Amino acid sequence: MSNKELAKGIHWVGAIDWDVRDFHGYSTLAGTTYNAFLIIDEKITLVDTVKRSHYADLMFQIKQLIDPEKIDYLIVNHVELDHAGSLAEVMDAVKPEKLICSPMGQKAILDHFHREDWPFEVVKSGDTISLGQRTLYFLETRMLHWPDSMFTFAMEDGILFASDAFGQHLATSERFDDQVPLSTIMDQAAKYYANILYLYSPLIRKLLTKVGELNLDIKMIAPDHGVIFRKHIGEILTAYDEWSKNKFDEKALIIYDTMWHSTEKMAVAIARGLEQEGVFTELINLKVHHRSDVMTKVLNAGALVLGSPTLNNGLLPRMAGFLMYMRGLKPQNKLAASFGSYGWSGECVKLLNQSIEEMRLDLVDEGLRFKYVPTDEDLDECVALGRRIGAAVKERAQQEG
Ligand code: FEO
Repeated sequence: MSNKELAKGIHWVGAIDWDVRDFHGYSTLAGTTYNAFLIIDEKITLVDTVKRSHYADLMFQIKQLIDPEKIDYLIVNHVELDHAGSLAEVMDAVKPEKLICSPMGQKAILDHFHREDWPFEVVKSGDTISLGQRTLYFLETRMLHWPDSMFTFAMEDGILFASDAFGQHLATSERFDDQVPLSTIMDQAAKYYANILYLYSPLIRKLLTKVGELNLDIKMIAPDHGVIFRKHIGEILTAYDEWSKNKFDEKALIIYDTMWHSTEKMAVAIARGLEQEGVFTELINLKVHHRSDVMTKVLNAGALVLGSPTLNNGLLPRMAGFLMYMRGLKPQNKLAASFGSYGWSGECVKLLNQSIEEMRLDLVDEGLRFKYVPTDEDLDECVALGRRIGAAVKERAQQEG
């Protein structure tokens, strides 16, 4: 069996994007893959397509196996353009008998491609389609992470084509989870969860329960990005269960930006206070950490301590941008506080606290601001703030057991 074959007659025909470094604001330093799968049965079926830039790669992979015109069914599990970007070209090349998608998928395809003449076959949760030897079972996964998203399950082979769920932005010539170090896969899976799926954690919990109730005999999970899980299915399901719980961990992040190092000095002093309380603490300077890497750390942090000086009555732009990004991802069950230096108007702490309240994080202190350069006494106050936050973290961790 080739390295691209998931099971007899089911082949990976996707594309590897070695170069992509920005995925709508998410830094993809390890590149990514756009996975698509060809099922060769009495009805030959293509599951998903690829980003438009990689259409030639998709066609190359298919042509290694069959004439693309022999494809009967085309399944679109998700319409976002990293998967459906080449749909119009593929439809022209393949002219399938059926274009299979969810009800919301049909709407999204029409809104993107405006082709009422395509041969839509709309499937809902629980519907099945026979390919001859195989049966495909469909499960709508609305808002995971778009309204159109769905899973396709190849019942006899036990392969779950999971669209974006369980994905990792990881370019590799290996296709399976037992061919790449597990830590590499899980680091990228955590980053993917934190930056794409975090806000849908309550829906993920429901989906995991639903999949459990369906008793699907899952032997493989094939996401549309990264490697396919065949050995570590338990690990990725357990990780999704953990990440979606929003559980409180005894860990603090001090996330800050600084203009002339005064806010940085405050950050270091607050970290000392947290450490004195025995709370694991990371100092995160937004100048050197990309927002999407910070979000991966936020995923399992119990406290966020936010620092920015005042600039032109506002926050430094990197902090303002980070807050906008984080707010959309809806972190929950975290303590928070703020700090910053200022010269005259001094709105930094007020604005940071407003943002904390808008995100519905638990503000544990009114915060600290100091004029221009903090004195030794000011820094002692920062240490004391760190200790107060640390004590609150310990208390919450104890309450949550
Ligand atoms: Fe990988 Fe939602 O697209």
